[in-house]
Amino acid sequence: MAKATISIAIFLLASSLLIFNISVKGRNLFREVVVEEASLELQCNKAYGVKSGDTCFAIAQAFKLTTDHFDFINPNLNCSALFVSQWLCVNAFLT
Ligand SMILES: *[C@@H]1O[C@H](CO)[C@@H](O)[C@H](O)[C@H]1NC(C)=O
Repeated sequence: MAKATISIAIFLLASSLLIFNISVKGRNLFREVVVEEASLELQCNKAYGVKSGDTCFAIAQAFKLTTDHFDFINPNLNCSALFVSQWLCVNAFLT
């Protein structure tokens, strides 16, 4: 009788530990996925040196990029202030 009670108590304890362990693991997994997404970095694969008379639009067209994509791979670029020999990214990937 007492033995059975102890067995049940151990079983319940073990089950709750297992459930706790699974939920902690799940949370860690979730956190790792979120961290991975947050740390994705844009890595430029190919740069282009601005020539006299170039515009962002013309460069984007020359490299068959949509203006949205061009802007995305060139964050903080001010297209109204392009200067000759400025490096622009014309091909990038997320890493
Ligand atoms: C972009 O450059 C132009 C010309 O120099 C300037 O007038 C404008 O304020 C700049 N815009 C930003 C967002 O820096």
